[in-house]
Amino acid sequence: AGIAFGLDAPYRIDYHDVVDSTNARARALAAAGEADVAVVAGEQRAGRGRVHRDWVSPTGGVWTSVLTRPVFPTAHAPAVTLAAAVATTDACREAGVDAHIKWPNDVLVGDTGERGGRKLSGILTEMEGEADRITWLIVGIGVNANVDPDRLPAGATSLWAERGEKIDRRRFLQRVLERYHRLTAEPDRILEAWRDRTSTLGSRVRVETGDAAVEGTAIGVEFPGTLVVLTDDGEHRRIHTGDCEHLRP
Ligand code: BTN
Repeated sequence: AGIAFGLDAPYRIDYHDVVDSTNARARALAAAGEADVAVVAGEQRAGRGRVHRDWVSPTGGVWTSVLTRPVFPTAHAPAVTLAAAVATTDACREAGVDAHIKWPNDVLVGDTGERGGRKLSGILTEMEGEADRITWLIVGIGVNANVDPDRLPAGATSLWAERGEKIDRRRFLQRVLERYHRLTAEPDRILEAWRDRTSTLGSRVRVETGDAAVEGTAIGVEFPGTLVVLTDDGEHRRIHTGDCEHLRP
C-alpha cells in the first residue's frame, strides 16, 4: 500500500506507513544481511538529520533510505552521497522547481546569496566497512515534497509550497531511485553532474568544520567530494566534511 504500491524501482521497496527513522530501519536490514533495498516511509516519528539534529518528517514527504553493498573503498562514499543530491535535484527540477545543490548534499531553492536559499531536501549517509571495502552503505534522503510549510522548521520549504500544487510522490521517488541507481553505476560521472547543479562553486562561503570555520570563495570540488576554498589570505583549504553556508559577496 501507500506510495510504494506499483513502484517500478531498481531496489526492493520496504514500505511502512510510519517508522521511527528509515535509516534506523535500513540499519536493521543491513545487520540482517540484506542489500539493494529502499526503505520508504509515509511518516517518520524520529527522523534524523546530520550532526545529531532531528529531521521533521510529517506525512506528505518523501522519506527513504537506500541500502546497498557497493564494491569500492570507504573513502569513495562521499561521491555516492553527491549522487543522491544530483538525483534529488533532477527530480525536483522535473517537478518544476528550480532546485540547486549546496555542498555537500543539501537541495535548496531560491536566492543563493541569502544564506543559501530555502531547504527542500537533506541527505544522511551511514556506512560500515574496512578502509579497502564498504560492507554496507545507507543513503537516507528526505524531501519535503507535499509537506505543509507551516509544519517545517525555519529556513525549510516544500515542493508543494514552491509550486503551489502537490506532486506525484510515487513518480518522484521512482525518478530519484532510478537516477541514483544509474549514477552510482557510473561513479566517474558523478562529480561532473554535481558541478553542473551546484550553487556553491563561485560563492562566498563559511564552512564550520567542527574545530574551525573556514571563510572564502568555493573554487572547486575534488573527488570524492572535497570542497576547495580559497581564503582571503590566498590559501587553498580542502574540506572533507562540514556545514557550509553561502554568504553575501
Ligand atoms: C540533513 O540534516 O540535512 C539530513 C537529513 C536527512 C533526512 C532523511 S529522511 C530519510 C532518512 N531517515 C532519517 O532518519 N533521515 C534521513
